[in-house]
Amino acid sequence: MENRAVSMEKIVSLCKRRGFVFQSSEIYGGQNGAWDYGPLGIELKNNIAQAWRREMTQLHDSIVGLDASILMHPRVWEASGHVENFTDPLVDCKKCNARFRADQMDEEKLAKKECPECGGELTDTRKFNLMFKTHIGPTDDNSNTIFLRPETAQGIYVNYKNVVQSSRMKIPFGIAQIGKAFRNEIVTKNFIFRTCEFEQMEMQFFVKPGTDDEWFNYWREQRWAFYKKHGVRMDKLRWHQHGKDELAHYAKDAYDIEYEFPMGFKELEGVHNRTDFDLKRHTDYSGKDMQYIDQDNGNERYIPYIIETSAGLTRNVLMFICDAYEEQKIGDKGNADDWRTVLHFHPLIAPVTVAVLPLMKKDGLAELAKEIQAELREDFRTDYDQSGAIGKRYRRQDEAGTPFCITVDYDSKEDNSVTLRFRDSMEQIRIPRSEIAARIQSEIKNYTRT
Ligand code: GAP
Repeated sequence: MENRAVSMEKIVSLCKRRGFVFQSSEIYGGQNGAWDYGPLGIELKNNIAQAWRREMTQLHDSIVGLDASILMHPRVWEASGHVENFTDPLVDCKKCNARFRADQMDEEKLAKKECPECGGELTDTRKFNLMFKTHIGPTDDNSNTIFLRPETAQGIYVNYKNVVQSSRMKIPFGIAQIGKAFRNEIVTKNFIFRTCEFEQMEMQFFVKPGTDDEWFNYWREQRWAFYKKHGVRMDKLRWHQHGKDELAHYAKDAYDIEYEFPMGFKELEGVHNRTDFDLKRHTDYSGKDMQYIDQDNGNERYIPYIIETSAGLTRNVLMFICDAYEEQKIGDKGNADDWRTVLHFHPLIAPVTVAVLPLMKKDGLAELAKEIQAELREDFRTDYDQSGAIGKRYRRQDEAGTPFCITVDYDSKEDNSVTLRFRDSMEQIRIPRSEIAARIQSEIKNYTRT
């Protein structure tokens, strides 16, 4: 089928039009680096989070969940190395005040200290810490500085002994957490790709030193399989191994899963071998013993190594929308109806799974359709729409990424059958009302994108 290229402008426009993502504080001109999730967006985000949590905890017998606080003791960020190392190189233009990341600038212009926007003189490069600082308590002096966490990982490390003791976890085991993180990003562009406030889905897997390479490879495979399972086009993904100059201060080895966004291949998730760096540092800074005692092996003591899988939840929302988006030519009338915009979400993550549509509002069809929706909503995320021509309603559901539509017509009143329409193929079949739920369950289980 003929289709048109996707661009970030089209994605941003669809997200606003259909209520996936809105600009934060739009009526005041917007807040840089912050976005709000609308009715469809929050469902999509929650479904991705739920799919990740299910994969990590429900389907894995040695991973448990945690929800640590955003505000943590400031010493945490000294121990983690973020106070010292979590910086970007920054330059300002003395004339137009524009601000740039030195590592992303044209090298020649940087060497000449020339502003790429107005040609003015640039300042020297200085280190800029990405952590947001604020104060806790009624006075705002340096004695009560507190940071908004720049990663969720540290909340897991400082709780690792609590989890071992309370849940009797034995190495190898993992702790998974989804939550907000904050970074004072100098350049926030490409919509929700890089923002100051975002969400992460992180899992820290605690292993015996010496087994870390093996577990690192295991988690690379698992995370790759997650995207395949949830319908991402695999030719849009690739691995990128961090070179020596790219490795974070804590990492022995790191691979990113990159996705081909409209602006090119960019990081979606990282898998990191963080060694015993974090737990050793927390031992030094807190004075608490962070060793694991292996009771099955003569009480052997060691600081575990940590394999981390760290995915952006909000970045995943953008990825799933970009991956699902398609403009397809479906007619030859020479007008706008020749094209449809469709989001091919996997049914497990689609904001709405099934929409119920009465062919007409009158003659009892609306009542019957609502009755069917009431039956289905126990098991599925449903929508009901009775306004406008049926073709237009199908288009609206296509744009929202709803994989299944049930249409109730006059025959439904006679023989208790309905039309089931598939979003991707636009194929329609007739099935008995009593079989709708089971049929949709089986379609979800066997779904592959067409
Ligand atoms: N705990 C390790 C860590 O935070 P990271 O590579 O800095 O590693 C992990 O971040 C993931 O978090 C990235 O792959 C990306 O998906 C997401 N992420 C990082 N910074 C982000 C930002 N400013 N906006 C949106 N997502 C971001």
